Amino acid sequence: MNVSRSAGRVSASWLIVITAFAAALGLWAGTRLFGTPPQPELQGTLLYPAPRALPDFSLQKSDGGTLTPADWKGRWTVVFFGFTNCPDVCPTTMAKMKQVWNTLAAEGLADRVRFDFISVDPERDTPEHLARYVGFFSKDFVAATGSDEELTRLTRSLGLVYFREPAKDGHYNVDHSASLVIIDPGGRQAGLVQPPIDAGKLGADLRTLAATR
Ligand code: NI
Repeated sequence: MNVSRSAGRVSASWLIVITAFAAALGLWAGTRLFGTPPQPELQGTLLYPAPRALPDFSLQKSDGGTLTPADWKGRWTVVFFGFTNCPDVCPTTMAKMKQVWNTLAAEGLADRVRFDFISVDPERDTPEHLARYVGFFSKDFVAATGSDEELTRLTRSLGLVYFREPAKDGHYNVDHSASLVIIDPGGRQAGLVQPPIDAGKLGADLRTLAATR
């Protein structure tokens, strides 16, 4: 995701900003309206008042397997949607995810937390390409992608958006939400971490969440 002067890019970027704002407002309003059930004190993670069920989905993992909602049960899962040709936001976010993962794994929390990268650019992000890209950050990260139908349904349900822009000289950019999705061990969306991602806060939040269940 980056900034551009063209009208299409600007409106797409604004829609992402507005969607992120609406998600934050929804979290805030939900907390105000429904009261706050006992929730852990978190530094950078916005938790929904109640976890949200996910739609059914089936994505292709880079190792040839299938990623379904069942895979997001049993641990706290951090999900990031992006694309491997992304020049800025994705590599930066992936580097922070790597940093947090290495810290938590060293603390013995590797079986309580997991990190997934889902590409919203299935045409270019082949399984081989995805495996190489994500493996550069961590061999423990799961990488997957899928059809636009699956990706659109899943991202919309999670409160995220992405836009594949028209190709120029054979190249194209994909504008995408830069938030991280937090899935609870029950396989439900617990909340969001909005950019800019702070690795220290994310690590602290995951440590706290992992201690709750
Ligand atoms: Ni990106």
